[in-house]
Amino acid sequence: MKTIIVNFKQYHESTGRSAISLISLLNHAIDFKGIETFFAVSLTDLLSASEIYGDMVIAQHVDGVDSGPYTGHVSYRTLLNMGVRKSLLNHSERKVKKEIIAKTAMLCDKAGVELILCAADIDEVKMFSSLPVPFIAYEPPDLIGGNISVSTANPDTIRDAAVVCDRADKALLVGAGIKVPDDARKSVELGASGILISSGVVLSREPGDALSSLAKALL
Ligand code: G3P
Repeated sequence: MKTIIVNFKQYHESTGRSAISLISLLNHAIDFKGIETFFAVSLTDLLSASEIYGDMVIAQHVDGVDSGPYTGHVSYRTLLNMGVRKSLLNHSERKVKKEIIAKTAMLCDKAGVELILCAADIDEVKMFSSLPVPFIAYEPPDLIGGNISVSTANPDTIRDAAVVCDRADKALLVGAGIKVPDDARKSVELGASGILISSGVVLSREPGDALSSLAKALL
Protein backbone atom coordinates (compact mmCIF):
# COMPACT_ATOMS: atom_id res chain seq x y z
CA MET A 1 0.00 0.00 0.00
CA LYS A 2 1.33 3.45 -0.95
CA THR A 3 0.43 6.62 0.94
CA ILE A 4 -0.13 10.22 -0.10
CA ILE A 5 -0.61 12.94 2.48
CA VAL A 6 -1.68 16.34 1.20
CA ASN A 7 -0.70 18.96 3.76
CA PHE A 8 -3.19 21.85 3.58
CA LYS A 9 -0.89 24.05 5.76
CA GLN A 10 -2.43 27.51 6.20
CA TYR A 11 -2.87 28.38 2.54
CA HIS A 12 -5.86 30.55 1.67
CA GLU A 13 -6.77 27.94 -0.96
CA SER A 14 -7.05 25.13 1.60
CA THR A 15 -8.34 26.61 4.85
CA GLY A 16 -11.58 27.96 6.26
CA ARG A 17 -14.33 28.07 3.65
CA SER A 18 -12.03 26.50 1.07
CA ALA A 19 -11.06 23.41 3.08
CA ILE A 20 -14.11 21.23 2.51
CA SER A 21 -14.48 22.14 -1.16
CA LEU A 22 -10.82 21.30 -1.77
CA ILE A 23 -11.15 17.93 -0.03
CA SER A 24 -14.26 17.20 -2.05
CA LEU A 25 -12.48 18.02 -5.30
CA LEU A 26 -9.41 15.96 -4.39
CA ASN A 27 -11.50 13.07 -3.15
CA HIS A 28 -13.22 12.82 -6.53
CA ALA A 29 -9.87 12.79 -8.28
CA ILE A 30 -8.46 9.74 -6.54
CA ASP A 31 -9.92 6.32 -6.71
CA PHE A 32 -6.94 4.04 -6.97
CA LYS A 33 -6.60 0.65 -5.34
CA GLY A 34 -3.29 0.38 -3.54
CA ILE A 35 -3.11 4.04 -2.51
CA GLU A 36 -4.36 5.59 0.70
CA THR A 37 -4.77 9.35 0.73
CA PHE A 38 -4.97 11.65 3.72
CA PHE A 39 -5.62 15.37 4.05
CA ALA A 40 -3.76 17.18 6.84
CA VAL A 41 -6.07 20.10 7.48
CA SER A 42 -5.84 23.11 9.75
CA LEU A 43 -6.96 22.60 13.34
CA THR A 44 -9.82 25.02 12.69
CA ASP A 45 -11.18 22.75 9.93
CA LEU A 46 -10.60 19.37 11.56
CA LEU A 47 -14.05 18.77 13.02
CA SER A 48 -16.09 19.81 9.99
CA ALA A 49 -13.79 17.89 7.64
CA SER A 50 -13.62 14.72 9.72
CA GLU A 51 -17.40 14.63 10.13
CA ILE A 52 -17.68 14.29 6.36
CA TYR A 53 -14.48 12.54 5.32
CA GLY A 54 -13.69 10.44 8.41
CA ASP A 55 -10.28 8.81 8.54
CA MET A 56 -9.01 10.63 5.45
CA VAL A 57 -8.71 13.73 7.61
CA ILE A 58 -5.65 14.09 9.81
CA ALA A 59 -4.15 16.82 11.99
CA GLN A 60 -1.11 18.95 11.24
CA HIS A 61 0.09 18.93 14.84
CA VAL A 62 -0.72 17.40 18.21
CA ASP A 63 0.53 18.12 21.73
CA GLY A 64 1.36 15.46 24.28
CA VAL A 65 -1.07 16.85 26.84
CA ASP A 66 -4.22 15.31 28.25
CA SER A 67 -7.56 17.10 28.42
CA GLY A 68 -7.43 20.02 30.86
CA PRO A 69 -5.89 23.44 31.42
CA TYR A 70 -3.64 23.63 28.33
CA THR A 71 -4.42 26.92 26.59
CA GLY A 72 -3.38 26.98 22.96
CA HIS A 73 -2.52 23.28 22.85
CA VAL A 74 -4.06 20.53 20.74
CA SER A 75 -4.57 17.55 23.01
CA TYR A 76 -4.47 14.08 21.48
CA ARG A 77 -7.70 13.49 23.38
CA THR A 78 -9.33 16.39 21.53
CA LEU A 79 -8.30 14.80 18.24
CA LEU A 80 -9.89 11.51 19.25
CA ASN A 81 -13.00 13.37 20.38
CA MET A 82 -13.24 14.84 16.85
CA GLY A 83 -12.82 11.40 15.27
CA VAL A 84 -9.27 12.17 14.13
CA ARG A 85 -6.80 9.33 14.58
CA LYS A 86 -3.65 10.52 12.80
CA SER A 87 -1.45 13.59 13.04
CA LEU A 88 1.74 15.05 11.70
CA LEU A 89 4.27 15.94 14.37
CA ASN A 90 7.47 17.99 14.23
CA HIS A 91 6.88 19.42 10.76
CA SER A 92 9.73 21.82 10.04
CA GLU A 93 7.21 24.65 10.13
CA ARG A 94 6.09 23.46 13.58
CA LYS A 95 9.18 22.03 15.26
CA VAL A 96 8.96 20.35 18.65
CA LYS A 97 11.71 19.70 21.22
CA LYS A 98 13.11 16.17 21.13
CA GLU A 99 11.99 15.26 24.66
CA ILE A 100 8.46 16.47 23.89
CA ILE A 101 8.42 14.39 20.69
CA ALA A 102 9.26 11.25 22.65
CA LYS A 103 6.61 11.95 25.30
CA THR A 104 3.96 12.77 22.66
CA ALA A 105 4.79 9.64 20.67
CA MET A 106 4.33 7.45 23.76
CA LEU A 107 1.04 9.07 24.76
CA CYS A 108 -0.37 8.98 21.24
CA ASP A 109 0.65 5.37 20.76
CA LYS A 110 -1.09 4.40 23.98
CA ALA A 111 -4.23 6.35 23.08
CA GLY A 112 -4.45 5.08 19.49
CA VAL A 113 -3.39 8.24 17.63
CA GLU A 114 -0.96 7.36 14.83
CA LEU A 115 1.82 9.84 14.21
CA ILE A 116 3.57 10.83 11.01
CA LEU A 117 6.78 12.08 12.57
CA CYS A 118 8.66 14.53 10.36
CA ALA A 119 12.44 14.37 10.17
CA ALA A 120 14.59 17.08 8.60
CA ASP A 121 17.64 14.89 7.97
CA ILE A 122 18.98 11.37 8.26
CA ASP A 123 20.09 11.92 11.86
CA GLU A 124 16.52 12.69 12.83
CA VAL A 125 15.27 9.69 10.83
CA LYS A 126 17.63 7.47 12.84
CA MET A 127 16.74 9.13 16.14
CA PHE A 128 12.99 8.80 15.56
CA SER A 129 13.12 5.24 14.28
CA SER A 130 13.01 3.86 17.83
CA LEU A 131 9.81 5.72 18.74
CA PRO A 132 6.38 4.06 18.56
CA VAL A 133 5.16 5.78 15.38
CA PRO A 134 4.04 4.05 12.16
CA PHE A 135 5.31 6.71 9.74
CA ILE A 136 8.47 8.79 9.42
CA ALA A 137 8.36 11.62 6.88
CA TYR A 138 11.73 12.83 5.63
CA GLU A 139 11.53 16.45 4.43
CA PRO A 140 14.64 18.61 4.00
CA PRO A 141 13.44 22.09 5.08
CA ASP A 142 15.36 24.04 2.45
CA LEU A 143 13.47 22.29 -0.39
CA ILE A 144 9.97 22.82 1.00
CA GLY A 145 7.79 24.93 -1.28
CA GLY A 146 10.36 24.93 -4.08
CA ASN A 147 10.57 23.24 -7.46
CA ILE A 148 13.49 20.91 -6.83
CA SER A 149 12.21 17.73 -5.31
CA VAL A 150 13.77 15.81 -2.47
CA SER A 151 14.10 12.79 -4.77
CA THR A 152 16.24 14.82 -7.18
CA ALA A 153 18.31 16.74 -4.63
CA ASN A 154 18.79 14.09 -1.96
CA PRO A 155 18.36 10.61 -3.50
CA ASP A 156 21.06 9.01 -1.35
CA THR A 157 19.43 10.24 1.84
CA ILE A 158 16.11 8.72 0.78
CA ARG A 159 17.88 5.41 0.17
CA ASP A 160 19.57 5.57 3.59
CA ALA A 161 16.33 6.60 5.29
CA ALA A 162 14.51 3.70 3.62
CA VAL A 163 17.01 1.21 5.05
CA VAL A 164 16.64 2.67 8.56
CA CYS A 165 12.83 2.68 8.33
CA ASP A 166 12.72 -0.82 6.92
CA ARG A 167 14.78 -2.17 9.82
CA ALA A 168 12.58 -0.34 12.32
CA ASP A 169 9.36 -1.42 10.59
CA LYS A 170 8.27 2.16 9.81
CA ALA A 171 6.73 3.40 6.59
CA LEU A 172 8.91 6.12 5.06
CA LEU A 173 7.24 9.09 3.39
CA VAL A 174 9.24 11.76 1.62
CA GLY A 175 8.33 15.33 0.86
CA ALA A 176 9.55 18.79 -0.16
CA GLY A 177 9.48 20.24 -3.64
CA ILE A 178 7.49 17.40 -5.18
CA LYS A 179 5.67 18.85 -8.16
CA VAL A 180 5.53 16.37 -11.04
CA PRO A 181 4.77 12.62 -11.25
CA ASP A 182 8.41 11.79 -11.90
CA ASP A 183 9.35 13.23 -8.47
CA ALA A 184 6.87 10.85 -6.84
CA ARG A 185 7.92 7.86 -8.96
CA LYS A 186 11.59 8.37 -8.07
CA SER A 187 10.77 8.61 -4.35
CA VAL A 188 9.16 5.18 -4.43
CA GLU A 189 11.96 3.71 -6.53
CA LEU A 190 14.39 4.93 -3.86
CA GLY A 191 12.46 3.05 -1.18
CA ALA A 192 9.75 5.39 0.08
CA SER A 193 6.22 4.15 0.77
CA GLY A 194 4.67 7.41 -0.31
CA ILE A 195 4.82 11.18 -0.34
CA LEU A 196 3.92 14.19 1.76
CA ILE A 197 3.02 17.09 -0.52
CA SER A 198 1.55 20.55 -0.25
CA SER A 199 2.08 23.34 -2.79
CA GLY A 200 2.25 20.96 -5.79
CA VAL A 201 -1.40 20.09 -5.15
CA VAL A 202 -2.91 22.89 -3.05
CA LEU A 203 -1.56 25.73 -5.21
CA SER A 204 -1.97 23.94 -8.53
CA ARG A 205 -4.42 25.41 -11.04
CA GLU A 206 -5.92 21.93 -11.28
CA PRO A 207 -5.44 20.36 -7.84
CA GLY A 208 -7.47 17.26 -8.74
CA ASP A 209 -5.42 16.52 -11.85
CA ALA A 210 -2.19 17.19 -9.96
CA LEU A 211 -3.10 14.71 -7.22
CA SER A 212 -4.39 12.12 -9.62
CA SER A 213 -1.21 12.12 -11.74
CA LEU A 214 0.98 11.91 -8.64
CA ALA A 215 -1.07 8.97 -7.35
CA LYS A 216 -0.75 7.12 -10.67
CA ALA A 217 3.01 7.60 -10.53
CA LEU A 218 3.17 5.77 -7.19
CA LEU A 219 1.51 2.62 -8.50
O1 G3P B 1 4.37 18.78 4.47
C1 G3P B 1 4.59 18.93 3.13
C2 G3P B 1 5.65 19.88 2.84
O2 G3P B 1 6.25 20.58 3.82
C3 G3P B 1 6.17 19.95 1.49
O3 G3P B 1 5.69 21.13 0.99
O4 G3P B 1 5.03 22.63 -0.79
O5 G3P B 1 7.23 21.44 -0.91
O6 G3P B 1 5.11 20.15 -1.23
P1 G3P B 1 5.77 21.34 -0.57
